[in-house]
Amino acid sequence: MPNVTYICPDGEREEVEVPVGTSIMKAAVSHGIESIVGDCGGSASCATCHVYVESHLEKLPPKTVNEDEMLSDAASEVLPNSRLGCQVVMRDDLASLVVRVAPGQW
Ligand code: FES
Repeated sequence: MPNVTYICPDGEREEVEVPVGTSIMKAAVSHGIESIVGDCGGSASCATCHVYVESHLEKLPPKTVNEDEMLSDAASEVLPNSRLGCQVVMRDDLASLVVRVAPGQW
């Protein structure tokens, strides 16, 4: 099963196995990574799953207009590698993905 490393705002690193087809937001929440909130449940309408993608960014599908708009409301600074974690769905070729969780989600 592919894995994702989450770098939390306090610097702690959590490596989690994420089933193919599962979003990295859902995997984080189900593993108790509290710095990802996922308030809307994954419908790209809250921006509390903001992450900075540190590897494999070029492999991800481009952001939709809706994701881009939601990120513009994110609590933390939006960078070129910002994504909504609920919109990043695990695939085999994303194994060893590394994401840094945005320092604030509210
Ligand atoms: Fe709400 Fe991602 S969980 S936008």
